[in-house]
Amino acid sequence: MELARVPVHNGLMTPDRTQSVPRRILLGVTGGIAAYKAAELVRCLREQGAEVQVVMTEAAQQFVTALTFQALSGRPVRTDLWDSSAEAAMGHIELARWAQLVLVAPASADFLARLAGGRADDLLATLVLATAAPVWVAPAMNRLMWANAATVANIATLTTRGIRVLGPASGEQACGEIGFGRMLEAQELADAVFATELEGPLRGMHVVISAGPTREPLDPVRFISNRSSGKMGYALAEAARDAGARVTLVSGPVALATPSGVARIDVETAAQMYQAVHATVGAADIYIGAAAVADYAPAACATQKIKKHGDIMDLSLHKAPDILASVAALSPRPFTVGFAAETCEIEKHAREKLIRKKLDLIAANEVGVERAFDRDENALLVLWSGGQRELALKSKSDLAREFVLLLAERYMLSRAQRVVEPLAS
Ligand code: PMT
Repeated sequence: MELARVPVHNGLMTPDRTQSVPRRILLGVTGGIAAYKAAELVRCLREQGAEVQVVMTEAAQQFVTALTFQALSGRPVRTDLWDSSAEAAMGHIELARWAQLVLVAPASADFLARLAGGRADDLLATLVLATAAPVWVAPAMNRLMWANAATVANIATLTTRGIRVLGPASGEQACGEIGFGRMLEAQELADAVFATELEGPLRGMHVVISAGPTREPLDPVRFISNRSSGKMGYALAEAARDAGARVTLVSGPVALATPSGVARIDVETAAQMYQAVHATVGAADIYIGAAAVADYAPAACATQKIKKHGDIMDLSLHKAPDILASVAALSPRPFTVGFAAETCEIEKHAREKLIRKKLDLIAANEVGVERAFDRDENALLVLWSGGQRELALKSKSDLAREFVLLLAERYMLSRAQRVVEPLAS
C-alpha cells in the first residue's frame, strides 16, 4: 500500500527525547526575595510544554502574590494543607503523585532546615515527604546564612537523601553583600529540568499507539464508525509517556486533548491509520493497537450525497486493511500488542486473535451497552502465549498504568528470550 502524507499534530512526526523529560512539575516557592525569579521560572517551564503547579509557603506570599503565579501557571496556586475546597479538587497525596518532579525555588534556609528535619508542618513540606518524584532545591539566602554550619549540615543531610541541590550562585545579593547565596537564574533551572531523563520501565523506548474510532465515508456527509471515544488509547499514551517512553499516538477523530509531550497524528479512515502507523512504527519498540478500526469500509465513496430511493438500500463493503496483523508481520517487528473488543466468550475469541494475528500480547475487554466503549472505567483480561492476567475494573487512567507495567514485564521477558534462544540452539 502506498504511503501518503499524513497530517501531523504538534509538528512532531518523529518524537524527540524531550518526551521522557519531566512534564508535570510541582514548583515550591518559599519566602525570599528571589521568589520573584520563580515567576520567570514558571514562564520558562511552560514555554517548553511543562504543566506547572505552584505551591507557596506562607512566607513566600509576603514577597509575591499567589495571583501572579496563578496567572502565569494557569492553575490555582496551592498554599494551605487545610484548604478543604482545594483538597476536594486534588488532595495533597494526589498532588504528590501527580508531580514528576518537585522543584523548590527559591528554597530558603528555614525551608531547608524543615526539610532536613523531616517536618510536615505545611503543605509544601508535606508534599516533599509524600512524593515519589525526584526533589530538587534551588537555595537562595544571604551568604552568611548559606555558609552557616547549620545550613551546611542540612544541605549534607538532604544530599545524602537523594535531594538534588542546584546552586546557589555567587554574586551581588539583595542585601548588598557579595558571595554565594544567589538563586540560579530561571532559565538555568529550566534547562536543568529539561536536561533530565525520567526513570521508568519504558525509558528510552518508542511506543506507537493507535486510539479512537475510524470513519469510513459513504458520501460527502455520511460515514460508518463506532462508539470509541479514544479514552483507553489516550490513557495508554499518558501511562507509556510516564513510564519513560517516547510516544506517538495515531488517533481517529476524538474530542480529547493531546497529552503533553506526546506526538499525535490525526487520521480518519482505516486506510489512513494504516499509512500513519506504518510511517512511524518502523523504528518503534512497541506497537499497541487500541483503536477500534473498521473491519469493512464502503467499496466506494459517492462524490455526491446519496439520494433516498426505494425501501431497502444495499451497501457494498470491502475488507479494511488489518493494521495490527500487518505490523505483526513486519520483519523486524516491534513488540506487537492488540486489544480485543468482545461481547461473549472473551478469553476464547481473544486467544484466537492472539494466535491468528501472531501477537505478543492481547488485552481483551468486554464491550457492549455501557461497557468499555466511551466509558471512564474498564477492565482487561491480558493474554499471552502460555499465560494471562486479569486487571480488575478501575478508571482507564489507573488501568493503563497497571497495563503498562505488565507490558514492560512481558516486553523485557520476550527480549531476554530472543537473546537466550539463539545461544541455546
Ligand atoms: O476508545 P474507548 O471509548 O476508550 O474504548 C476503548 C476500546 C473498547 C475501543 C478499546 O479498549 C478496544 O478494545 N480497542 C480495540 C477495538 C477493536 O477494534 O477490537 P477488535 O477485536 O475488533 O480488533 C482486534 C485488534 O485488531 C485491535 O487491536 C484493533 O485495533 C485491530 N484491528 C482491527 C481491525 C483492523 N482493520 N485493523 C486493526 O488493526
